[in-house]
Amino acid sequence: MKTIVSGIQPTGSLNIGTYLGSIKNFVKLQKIYSDYHFYLFIADLHALTTPMDAKKLRQKIKELAALYLACGLERENLSLFVQSELPAHSQMGYLLQCHAYMGELERMTQYKDKAQKQTDGIRSSLFTYPALMAADILLYDAEYVPVGDDQKQHLELTRTLAERINHRYGDVFKVPKPLIPKVASRIMSLTDPTKKMSKSDENVKSRINLLDDENIIRKRIKSAVTDSDQTVRYDREEKPGLSNLFDIRIAITDESVKEIEDAYEGKGYKEFKEDLGDIVVEELLPIQKRYRELIDSGELDKILDEGKKRAEQVANKKVEKLNRILGLGRKRK
Ligand code: TYM
Repeated sequence: MKTIVSGIQPTGSLNIGTYLGSIKNFVKLQKIYSDYHFYLFIADLHALTTPMDAKKLRQKIKELAALYLACGLERENLSLFVQSELPAHSQMGYLLQCHAYMGELERMTQYKDKAQKQTDGIRSSLFTYPALMAADILLYDAEYVPVGDDQKQHLELTRTLAERINHRYGDVFKVPKPLIPKVASRIMSLTDPTKKMSKSDENVKSRINLLDDENIIRKRIKSAVTDSDQTVRYDREEKPGLSNLFDIRIAITDESVKEIEDAYEGKGYKEFKEDLGDIVVEELLPIQKRYRELIDSGELDKILDEGKKRAEQVANKKVEKLNRILGLGRKRK
């Protein structure tokens, strides 16, 4: 069976950028690729690449698991699991590190950006992180990997590693293809539209979290940075803030730019932002309701246990295969 693989780090609170760039897209893809199996996970090992409080991490893992499901994923062709519960990810991560070059890892822009922000020393895991991410994907022979624009470079490295290993040892891995959504592949900060909306931005006004209450959502949109001209027009260069709000709207409603521009002819940003407030609230409130039903139900653990069981079988086989090929351990009959 063909597979689609993706993950999200349980750092900070899930925001609308991550939602539109990933989970909402997974929900759409489950309909399009209904004969594929989806391996989606909570990338908790990745969360240790920067300092993280243990209690908070535990809570965020559960929160993210509930949010994945609350966003409307079908359970039938899905294995949802917590990455660290499968040792195969760490094992494969190490084997791939053994095939990645320093120069390749040094070129990763996300490493360079994040390293700059570390005040207490840069963890070596931040540097080797792309090898672990490649492992997450290659373990399941992913056909496609749906991600936002910021993960493109990591995906390129994953492909390079897969090709390198296949070239050396024969066909070990499927070479995966990224699936980057046309709209919302890079939702920008509401306070600085030149920066990506991020879970780790210190300014809470820069984002809308999925669990924010209605008033906050409306407030954040109202105060989003836009230019002083009042014409509602999509223009990434001249009107980056407003265009970002267009992207959020289009990712939810599937309207075209022209339809929106026409609807706001003669109207200003105030109306546009008020309407967007309604649209986002309408999108998020049902998710919040389902989230509250799920978060303390035994159902969540059951789904994660089942996901783990299915993923484990596939992942363990792949690690054993590569161990054997590389000559690790003792020969078995
Ligand atoms: P993470 O946790 O930073 O983000 C999860 C997913 O959300 C996308 N995303 C965005 N899309 C649009 N606009 C934004 N502002 C925005 N912010 C985040 C990301 O591109 C990503 O798709 N390394 C990954 C997690 C990971 C993974 C994997 C993904 C670990 N292993 C294997 C795919 C396959 C990360 O840190 O994503």
